[in-house]
Amino acid sequence: MTLGVDYYPEHWPQARWETDAALMREAGLQVVRLAEFAWVKMEPAEGEFEWEWLDQAVETLASVGLQVVLGTPTAAPPAWLTRSYPDILPVDEQGRRRDFGARRHYCANSPTYREHTRRVVDAMATRYGRHSNVIGWQIDNEFGGGRIARCTCHNCAAAFHRWLQRRYDTIDALNDAWGTVFWSQWYTDWAQIEPPGPCGEKPNPSHVLDYYRFSSDSWVEYQQIQIDTLRARTDDGQFITTNLMGLFSDLDYYKLAAPLDFVTWDSYPTGQGERWRDMLYPLGFASDAGKERYGYDVGDPAITGLAHDLMRALKDGPFWIMEQQPGPINWGDYNPAPHPGVVRLWTWDDIAHGADAVVYFRWRACLYAQEQYHSGLLRHDGEPAQGLRDVEAMKEECEVMATIQGTSIPAEVALLHSYDDLWAIDLQPHNRDFGYLRHLFTYYRAVQRAGVPVDIAPPTRDLGRYKLVIAPTLFLVDETVADNLRRYVEGGGHLVLSVRSGFKTTSNRVVDTALPGLLADLVGATIEEWHSLPPGVTYPLEMTGLAKRAFAARIWAEALKPTDAEILAHFAGGSLDGRPAATLNRVGSGEVVYLGAWADDDLADALLAWLMPRADVEPLASVPPGVKAMRRAGESSEFVFLLNFSDTVARAELRETGYTDAMTGEPRSPSVKVPARGVVICRKPKGLRKP
Ligand code: GAL
Ligand code: ZN
Repeated sequence: MTLGVDYYPEHWPQARWETDAALMREAGLQVVRLAEFAWVKMEPAEGEFEWEWLDQAVETLASVGLQVVLGTPTAAPPAWLTRSYPDILPVDEQGRRRDFGARRHYCANSPTYREHTRRVVDAMATRYGRHSNVIGWQIDNEFGGGRIARCTCHNCAAAFHRWLQRRYDTIDALNDAWGTVFWSQWYTDWAQIEPPGPCGEKPNPSHVLDYYRFSSDSWVEYQQIQIDTLRARTDDGQFITTNLMGLFSDLDYYKLAAPLDFVTWDSYPTGQGERWRDMLYPLGFASDAGKERYGYDVGDPAITGLAHDLMRALKDGPFWIMEQQPGPINWGDYNPAPHPGVVRLWTWDDIAHGADAVVYFRWRACLYAQEQYHSGLLRHDGEPAQGLRDVEAMKEECEVMATIQGTSIPAEVALLHSYDDLWAIDLQPHNRDFGYLRHLFTYYRAVQRAGVPVDIAPPTRDLGRYKLVIAPTLFLVDETVADNLRRYVEGGGHLVLSVRSGFKTTSNRVVDTALPGLLADLVGATIEEWHSLPPGVTYPLEMTGLAKRAFAARIWAEALKPTDAEILAHFAGGSLDGRPAATLNRVGSGEVVYLGAWADDDLADALLAWLMPRADVEPLASVPPGVKAMRRAGESSEFVFLLNFSDTVARAELRETGYTDAMTGEPRSPSVKVPARGVVICRKPKGLRKP
């Protein structure tokens, strides 16, 4: 297992570098990421490269045995480049040009920028592509950050035309797919199509969805230029990755991740907790958020967890944390300082969800510019901050970390997720509270509360290994997805679908058959009516077969009409009173539940409790609020992580016996006391599961 740090030697006098390297080494760090914003130091004027400082920095680190990951510097084009080629600057959705002064001020479709990208990446790769201490490359930095993933400049308009021509072939096919007969939006020439911008009312949602796809593809293409340039010059042993942003959803991360060796992402739990909170907890039901129990300084563990699990989904395997919050950050609303031990808790949480390396951002707090208030492992004055003490406390745990590295993260339950669905729902939520991720998060939290590890997966992935698959809103469905789900269920899978499924075609038009469209056969029922429910309005619902029977639909409700399925629930009040609200259909050796209601926590918990034994899903542990149970499995042992994000001691009950404490080797009773803001790691040899 590798711990590391992001280092900016260019921010400090060279005389300090040796001290820094020695301190890093002493703290047990092994990897250092460098240079991802240092373009102007590498190339102070066009074509004039200066490598001595970077050579020196790499050497200084290498001399104490630290390995280096180099970042390509394209997230921050220098002033000389920007001023000589203003054409590289991006234009936002309101038509405003983004100027020099921060970072990410470039357009992925600018031919000029692509050329300069090739040049600088090639020069860097030529210099360090075979350096024995450089173990890999991070391309750019956080594609899409700074809210400029969707540029609308003239370069993008031209590239969009080419993208559309490839997708539709003829302009009439596009007119048909987008429904441009509406309001005379009919096009007779590709050149008439602009990036969707301010146009009075909302633009056509099919047009916008394609623009989102195109913009995302533009970054995939831009990234590929860097991958190709790097691959041509680098050693096979050097990996290529980029650093992603968890729940950030302007880019299709599945596509962006596909050509990379593995995924890395940047985790800032307190910032993420604030930033995504309103998006993930139902607005009209704000009290829900209060039910989770975690310290004010640790971030919402469910939000961090969902981000981790999504990042793991991208390549269906372990990832790295390329930037881990080391203490207070500077970009949140309140930026609380984590208690001693929290950086360790975050690190183990990273590992529990599938991280094979954790790199802290940043080494030393910066004295100037935008991020002065961001902590580092060292304080501004170069003395250790609390974060470094936490890292040092993990030194003796590194051996266990090393055993965990490369192990898998087995899950029996999957939640389906797709960027197309997310974008299409966000374009037409129809109910202000209907957020795609918010809906998914309801089930995510329910699964986590049940002490069951979960995978996130795209609806096109082979689902055969899961016992239970939940697809909260499978909105845009084509034959490929419908067939994939059918195959899964026929093979014995348990599938849960919920509201607004099968509603649209991939070009974002409503289907012309009974809902849920291509899924109707599989569901064995059709949807007769769908209702959007404003805050405060709920439809009572009665479920047969559940221990507790009375529930309520909120945000969205659908009346079903079974064709083959049996009825699982009825509305018991509201304007759908008496109509079927959920069905169960047996198909092959599996079954499909359709729930015509946006579930609250209560209903999601009850549904899951009912489904788990049916699908033969067992929890890892029973966990109180604020505690998370995760598992990793190697060839010979399995590890269970119990992570307590609350500020009081908690007790978790492991489901199985035979564990030892991973750190001490002492036997562990299945009833485990987990310290506040602490973690317990249990281990047991594989193959000793209860019969
Ligand atoms: C990340 C970014 C870093 C730094 C950090 C501060 O999003 O990649 O460069 O800005 O945030 O938290
Ligand atoms: Zn552009």
